Amino acid sequence: MEKELEIARMDIIPVEDLDTAIEQYKALGYRLDMIFPADNPREAVMLMGEESVRLIAGPKSNVQSLKSQDIADIGHETLDLRPASDSEWTTGRAGMEYRDLIPDRMDGKVIASHIRLATGGEVPDYVHYHKIDLQMIYCLKGRIKVVYEDQGEPFWLEPGDCVLQPPEIRHRVLECEANSEVIEITMPAEHETWAEHEISLPTTELKPDRGFGGQRFFCHKAVNSDVPWQMNLKTH
Ligand SMILES: [Fe+2]
Repeated sequence: MEKELEIARMDIIPVEDLDTAIEQYKALGYRLDMIFPADNPREAVMLMGEESVRLIAGPKSNVQSLKSQDIADIGHETLDLRPASDSEWTTGRAGMEYRDLIPDRMDGKVIASHIRLATGGEVPDYVHYHKIDLQMIYCLKGRIKVVYEDQGEPFWLEPGDCVLQPPEIRHRVLECEANSEVIEITMPAEHETWAEHEISLPTTELKPDRGFGGQRFFCHKAVNSDVPWQMNLKTH
């Protein structure tokens, strides 16, 4: 709550290009605290000492026009099932590329992102957390090394693996194989991503039953598993 109140008082700086502005403020000694939204950032909060600024870029084109024969109805919404073309991808947070699978986002309630990491090796991510109600990630292709707060050592997400990433759990993408891909489903569609500056990962304690916003972390590993994938939304 304190952070939100601080944001209300901070200077708002309109910028043309958010990435460029972030780098310029970093060069001045500011650190990145918050970015919004993750798939096509247009706002960032930067902090230096007691001073915070909120950088706001103009809207960028993200959603492409759809032809009716290319989409399938799912209830009242539509899911984009066309093969991905390069023009559909936008560069999001930490250099990852995003493609919207539900372009109208169910009136902002949910975003389903097809995310790809074209370049292999270390991912330019940092320890962060999301202000979300629900977030799950399913690995489609390649391998992605991740680490989560109080969930032990880093591990690889591989095709068929699925993670329930509870609200505000600190985490980081460490490295990946080239052309890795995941599907990420998040509610609400637009949410804040905050950088974590105090907690480093992995944490020293292992707490698999810890609650985060009424949920707990869950990872289904597809390899050697006879257990069907299942959600694990424990109330704490
Ligand atoms: Fe994340």
